[in-house]
Amino acid sequence: MSIAKEQESTRGAVKPIGAFPMTREARCPFDPPPTGRAAQEAGALTRVELSDGTTPWFITRYAEQRSLLSDPRLSADSTRPGYPVPGSSYSNDTGGSGAEGASSGFSFILMDDPEHARLRRMVTAPFMVKRIEAMRPGVQKIVDDLIDDMLTADGPVDLVEAYALPMPSLVICQLLGVPYSDHDLFQSNSKILINREASVEQKRHAIGALVQYLHGLLRTKTEHPAEDVFSDLARRVQAGDLTGDDAAMMGVLLLVAGHETTANMIALGTLALLEHPDQLERLRTEDDPGLLTSAVEELLRYLTITHDGRKRVATDDIEIAGEVIRAGEGVIVATDLGNRDPEAFPDPDTLDLGRDARHHVAFGFGVHQCLGQPLARMELQVAYRTLFQRIPTLRLATTLDQVPFKHDGGVYGVYELPVTW
Ligand code: HEM
Repeated sequence: MSIAKEQESTRGAVKPIGAFPMTREARCPFDPPPTGRAAQEAGALTRVELSDGTTPWFITRYAEQRSLLSDPRLSADSTRPGYPVPGSSYSNDTGGSGAEGASSGFSFILMDDPEHARLRRMVTAPFMVKRIEAMRPGVQKIVDDLIDDMLTADGPVDLVEAYALPMPSLVICQLLGVPYSDHDLFQSNSKILINREASVEQKRHAIGALVQYLHGLLRTKTEHPAEDVFSDLARRVQAGDLTGDDAAMMGVLLLVAGHETTANMIALGTLALLEHPDQLERLRTEDDPGLLTSAVEELLRYLTITHDGRKRVATDDIEIAGEVIRAGEGVIVATDLGNRDPEAFPDPDTLDLGRDARHHVAFGFGVHQCLGQPLARMELQVAYRTLFQRIPTLRLATTLDQVPFKHDGGVYGVYELPVTW
């Protein structure tokens, strides 16, 4: 039976279309999974089945996604019963919904207003566009130094290890006030947290290690304050505005969110450009200063690396697109599908660096929209432009089918990207 017929025949009791997370087609590593695409064609809402047997709503279309993500009747609190827990992503699912509250290590991303807004406000200023723009020369220097190092080798090199991962890690360390020499600790634990296949125990352990590390760092900042975000958090703890636990958990959120996503976007975006030489040529040759900006937005849309969807739970009945989401039901907003919705983006499967894709939902939408987006945008602009300017002959040192994609990742990307020049 087609998905449309299946939904028609069970209206009022929509049957799940299949398991979630879904599998991408190996031949189309940049495209959302075919099951999701078919569901989107059939309608805006359907259900999926999670490994714990629950069947949350699955929102496939852009308009309904924006409407729901800005609806205060949807909660981001993963300790509420009904919150969908399919695996892991950097923003959710650190190992269980329900009263145990194992996911509190991710701070305000998993809270509702007014507490969410209260905590978010404390760290908004350093991520504002003006402050981020002032960091651009420093980021350019980091990028140039990494490329200098890369060029001392004859190639091939793994672009993830040599460039995509250290670049945003160095930048976020500087901004937050984290010694980069501790990168092994936070990178390895972040990897566990965003791995769909890591066990609850492994994730708890990883959060525990990061929280412990952050507590120690905040103590150091109290004794030796500097001009950085964590020194500011330490001051707030001393002033009694914030508990030490809340400060440490906020630190975990900023540190994990601040490097893993951007690193995946740098590597996957580079691969997407190498696989679309006509578009790469435009980026290299077109004399339009706006093209780099639109190219970054388009790559964010086209790749939507946070491919496990935004997860929420309804606190009240919500009528939408001919269905009723009941209070207590889980909701997965599939932003990777929303960003390929033809109603919002004509010819959505074409990578077109010149299109205006600014309204994409790759950074989410509503009150939880990505706090770090001005930083991510600036880093990506510097990273792509400099890489292709300084190494114009950059090319893949393997074939596309040999590239190890992060099919098990809550954040999509590649584990390795062998390149040469
Ligand atoms: C390309 C890179 C990035 C992507 C694709 C991305 C994506 C996202 C998405 C989709 C959300 C919404 C989560 C939700 O609605 O449940 C989010 C939230 C968030 N992001 Fe990012 N992000 C990126 C980079 C960054 C950076 C560099 C930081 C810096 C620390 C950051 C910090 C945050 C924070 C703190 C939140 C939580 C906001 C809230 O709940 O109010 N992100 N991000």
